[in-house]
Amino acid sequence: MLSHILVTGGAGYIGSHTCLELLNAGYRVSVVDNLSNSKFESLNRVHKLSSADQKIDFFECDILDEQKMTEIFQQQKPDAVIHFAGLKAVGESVEIPLDYYQNNIAGTITLLRIMKTCNVKNFVFSSSATVYGDPASVPILENFPTSVNNPYGRSKLYIEEICADIFKSDDSWNMAMLRYFNPVGAHKSGEIGEDPNGIPNNLLPYISQVAIGKREKLSVFGNDYPTSDGTGVRDYIHVVDLAIGHIKALEKLSQNPGLVTYNLGTGKGYSVLEMLHAFEKACGHKIAYQIVDRRAGDIAECYADPSFAKKEINWQATHDLEQMMRDAWNWQSKNPDGYN
Ligand code: NAD
Ligand code: UD1
Repeated sequence: MLSHILVTGGAGYIGSHTCLELLNAGYRVSVVDNLSNSKFESLNRVHKLSSADQKIDFFECDILDEQKMTEIFQQQKPDAVIHFAGLKAVGESVEIPLDYYQNNIAGTITLLRIMKTCNVKNFVFSSSATVYGDPASVPILENFPTSVNNPYGRSKLYIEEICADIFKSDDSWNMAMLRYFNPVGAHKSGEIGEDPNGIPNNLLPYISQVAIGKREKLSVFGNDYPTSDGTGVRDYIHVVDLAIGHIKALEKLSQNPGLVTYNLGTGKGYSVLEMLHAFEKACGHKIAYQIVDRRAGDIAECYADPSFAKKEINWQATHDLEQMMRDAWNWQSKNPDGYN
């Protein structure tokens, strides 16, 4: 039984929601985060929401700091690691690829080396549906070919491949590669949620900021895709469903499955305009938008076949689109400036 989990990047968007689910499920939780894209306040709120007596042991530390990380591992003695820490903006990764490779790939190698030395061999990795590139068909199964066309995506795919090599060399590792589709929404309390820096890259945070009056209008990137209304289709998944997927993955790791890979998505695709109209319903007013050119690198359609995760780890998403939108708006309207 795995009972003590070290979470890298635990103060971030998905990390904070996962820490809350871990505490509520009775796990002991340690977090390592350099707070480069998050605030400690997210974990204060996790404590406020949690039903557990245990508090998170927090370490402000960069995963690249091998000495400090080793000390943390020796002191904390975790049973498993959930690894969220990383940079995640596709456009930025094209501008500063070396920073992405250093932080994501070198950071993960450093972490895995320390885990090996400290004999902690249970690892859950935040991968992404981006590793499928432009899929030949939808829904996407785990055995579809991979293909990446930007440094962010390449960092995810390389890390998956590095994990496969490690497992090949030593099959006492247990590793879960979780390929997330598009996480959205927030905890239903509205206390924790997504707090992007600067102009949001992703659709939902952008729509939320238009809805709250921080941005004038949404630019819809293209309406000439071969989809029902011409706008891009994605598999949006409630962040709490995603967080619970990590608990299920840990339960699987405790049965020594070796290296496993799961899609975490709902299996349903929604277009940009469907998302916009669903958000209008949640916030109660119209949201301004304009159609602009396609965004470079975008694909028409991407949604998961999540049946393997259902079969193997008994996980499936339970929140529907209305709940995703209601919770996203609850968080945004209660925290117009995020955690500030
Ligand atoms: P996030 O930026 O909110 O969280 C990442 C956290 O990692 C932040 O708290 C940041 O401060 C921390 N961090 C970054 N580099 C670090 C380092 N070198 N050392 C220590 N801490 C560091 O992002 P998120 O949306 O919560 O994503 C979590 C993970 O899931 C990322 O690896 C991301 O690539 C992956 N992912 C996210 C999405 C998404 O749409 N949000 C989709 C697929 C995969
Ligand atoms: C992006 C990343 C992908 C990552 C995923 C989840 C790119 C090219 N890809 O994908 O690697 O795994 O986020 O984090 O950035 N849209 C608009 N207007 C906007 C923003 C988005 O119309 O202002 C559209 C997009 O064209 C797309 C959909 O909304 O059709 C979703 O976009 P986004 O939230 O950025 O996610 P992905 O494109 O799936």
